Amino acid sequence: MKLRVFDNEELVARALGERIASAVRQRPNIVLGLPTGRTPIATYAELRRLHLEQGLSFARASTFNLDEFVGLHGRHPGSFRFFMQRHLFDTVDLAPERIHFLDGMAADLDVECERYERDIAALGGIDLQVLGIGSNGHIGFNEPAEELVANTHHVELHEGTRRDNAAQFGGDPARVPREALSMGMGTILRAGALILVATGERKARCIERTVRGPVTTRLPASFLQMHRAVEVYLDRPAASLLAVE
Ligand code: GLP
Repeated sequence: MKLRVFDNEELVARALGERIASAVRQRPNIVLGLPTGRTPIATYAELRRLHLEQGLSFARASTFNLDEFVGLHGRHPGSFRFFMQRHLFDTVDLAPERIHFLDGMAADLDVECERYERDIAALGGIDLQVLGIGSNGHIGFNEPAEELVANTHHVELHEGTRRDNAAQFGGDPARVPREALSMGMGTILRAGALILVATGERKARCIERTVRGPVTTRLPASFLQMHRAVEVYLDRPAASLLAVE
């Protein structure tokens, strides 16, 4: 894993925005995998800035988001689709038909998960997958468990994860859906390149275990060690338990 540590969150967003922008410039029809959460918000703002000020264009790019809550419409303010519209899709020139999302309202959720895998494969796979990390080491919504499901699947969320996601639901964990759809660790590991981003001291322990610890389903992020092109973007607090400069 290639570690990149920055003094603060703002510098992480700058560097990661530039990293994504250069991948898009190099390959305008790139297939991007995208995360939600508080962490990537500043990076999405940076992409918007590069779009407005430097003419960075996403017009030929395609995107696949990692996950979505079950039972929420894309226009529900708690949905990840709504989050992405607000923080990225409405602010750059992505073509709506090239934005791909899991539909948490699908009549048959298993069929929906298979559809997503097919759509990813049809575009030749994800070129660059950006990832956040949950404080329990989840990636997308792949929660720590005895076993992990490789492909896109239907998941039950842990209580801690629902608490961590409460901000989008007026701060009330009880309003956070109990289920979600998520790319599997296999879906994620099939991407050409992976970038994990984490900021803040709250992530220090799971980052240390992700980078240095054994590969275990108890920490889904540890599976990233098995991919040959992983970059990890951290601020100092998130890197505080790693002995790196
Ligand atoms: C959610 C998402 C994850 C994300 C995590 C971390 O659980 N499903 O993909 O990585 O939140 O969020 P934050 O960046 O707010 O810590």
